[in-house]
Parts: sequence; C-alpha cells; structure tokens
Amino acid sequence: MSQQRTPLIAGNWKMNGRLEDGAERAEDLAGRMQAKGGGGFQMLLCPPATLLTAVGAAIADSGIFLGAQDCHFNDSGAHTGDISAAMLADLGCSHVIVGHSERRADHGENDALVNAKAAAAIAAGLIAIVCVGETEAQRDAGETNQVVAGQARGSVPDGANAGNLVIAYEPVWAIGTGRTPTAAEVQAVHAMIRATMAGITNDQTAAGCRILYGGSVKPGNAAELLSLADVDGGLVGGASLSADDFWAIATAAG
Ligand code: 13P
Repeated sequence: MSQQRTPLIAGNWKMNGRLEDGAERAEDLAGRMQAKGGGGFQMLLCPPATLLTAVGAAIADSGIFLGAQDCHFNDSGAHTGDISAAMLADLGCSHVIVGHSERRADHGENDALVNAKAAAAIAAGLIAIVCVGETEAQRDAGETNQVVAGQARGSVPDGANAGNLVIAYEPVWAIGTGRTPTAAEVQAVHAMIRATMAGITNDQTAAGCRILYGGSVKPGNAAELLSLADVDGGLVGGASLSADDFWAIATAAG
C-alpha cells in the first residue's frame, strides 16, 4: 500500500445472494462502516444486478460504494438481457467490474470488448475495474507478464486515468482455490502492471491508479497481501459473502 493511493476493498458477490441475506449482509457492513467513521480504506460492494437496489438502500449514507459486475458497451438499444453503464449509474452505482476472468471464460469476452465496456463505464461517470490475470498453464509456461501486460494494453481504454480506472490482478488459478501466488510474486506482477500503465497512459496515471489483488484473499492472508507496495486493495470473492470475513479483510487495510 502507498500513502498516495487509498486502499479499495471490493466484494464481488458473483452470482450469489437473495434479497434477504444480501440486504442483511450489506446492512451489517454499513453499520460497521458507520461506527468506524471515514478514512483508512474505501469499501465497495458488487452484488448481482438483482440486488443492486436493495444493497444500495442498505448502504445509503454509510460511505460504502455500490458497484456492478458487468455492463454493456452501448448506452441503450436492442440487447436483450444486458444492462448499460448509464442504467447502473441511475441505480447509484459508482463502480463496475469489467473483464472478470469468469466473463472472459463463460461469455467469450476478449480485450477489445472489455475495452469498449470500460470506455462505456467511464463515459457514464463510473469507475471501471478492469480485470486481468493469467491461467495456471500460462504461469507454468513463464508467460504471466506477457499475458497480463497484453490484457492491460488491450483492455484499458483511451481516456483512462487514476480517477476513473482501477486494475484488478486476478490470477485465474487463484480464484476460489485457496491458492495464491507468493507475496513476492504478487508484488512483482503489480509493479509490472504499473510500469505497463505508464506506457499505456502516463506516469501520473500509473502512479495514482489503484491495482487490486484478487484470488483467494482471506482474513488470514489479507494483511500480508495488502502490505505490498503496489497492492492498493483487494477484489474479494468467496470471503466477501461473510460480513465478518470481509470486514476482517478490510480492516487489515487500515
Ligand atoms: P475468490 O476470492 O473467491 O478467490 O474470488 C476472487 C474473485 O474472482 C473476485 O473477483
């Protein structure tokens, strides 16, 4: 973590949660956040689209941010089942995740599509959280830097800056597996991403842009991961489904 970048602790609930438990968890976290007061870290909840309204109501005035897990690249139109970034902004979202590896795998999303989604998010006034990360086979083949830098170059849209873009480094093999790279490996990839960002954008954006780590972040490893110089927060899946675990992770950041 650095002094200049406020850590962001984001919970990606993925396709989990029903009205009752989702709102309850959000209210629980809102109460803890209000009791804590500001400073230290920012918290973001990204529930499934079905829960955005309920979670938004539960966290109103708590300082917790609301985000979505995906958006379409158009503002409106004939795209059955899709939701635009402008619609998410309407609901009170401030952030949206784009290019998560599960969307890249399940829906065949490529860098060009992720780039267009991130551009749409930024145009709608949202902060785009662009996900990158290598598979286990790519890591074993020594291709991590090449793959991750390539995804960043392809997925970060023109006009991105430290205020409207967050990068999330999520090694695919670490997601939901309980396995993580070593702290040194995480730091090395994050530093490489920051250097790549300087090439894509400029030094100021690269220095200010937050780079989150995601993949089996738990209360037991959060302090070590979040202490790394170029790790500016976490994108948490499974552990964000427990208010206790997610709060423990967040408070490890500050
Ligand atoms: P887990 O924390 O469950 O490994 O998921 C990480 C993730 O994919 C967050 O977007």
